[in-house]
Amino acid sequence: MTDTITAAPATTSVWGPDVAAGAARFLQPLVVNLTAMSVDGKQAHWHVRGPSFIAVHEFLDVYVDHVREWADLVAERVVALGLPVDGRTGTVAADTTTPALRDGFQSVPDTIAQVVAQIDATLEILHTGIEALEEIDAASQDVLVEIERGLVKDRWFLHAHIATA
Ligand SMILES: [Fe+2]
Repeated sequence: MTDTITAAPATTSVWGPDVAAGAARFLQPLVVNLTAMSVDGKQAHWHVRGPSFIAVHEFLDVYVDHVREWADLVAERVVALGLPVDGRTGTVAADTTTPALRDGFQSVPDTIAQVVAQIDATLEILHTGIEALEEIDAASQDVLVEIERGLVKDRWFLHAHIATA
């Protein structure tokens, strides 16, 4: 006969505080960067001009949807492990490693170069995290692998607009 559960578990994490904190170290920076990219992706969507305008303008909305979904995926992994995340605007502005976009209207090549630079800054965090999480938490690593795959694909879709061959 099994014991009756009489009390709620002490933590919402089944893995304990060490795994949660270890994983959160690599997930929090992604919440920040992906949130920054969702805001800047809209800025790029509004201000792009020139040949291939409609394709780039429309794809940037798809990209914004993706980075918003991925920010949610990462943030909820941390919360599911039992820790809070910090996605406040002040924290995002202070901590993001994405290079700032220039203000005002931008050509298609300049828009893509700036968005790709933000993607590359975030891929660096993803690659560091994927390597480190191998030893800490495979499920969190899996979240990062999924995002890496999608982000590299979006990078390709953007870069293809300005590639010459
Ligand atoms: Fe729009």
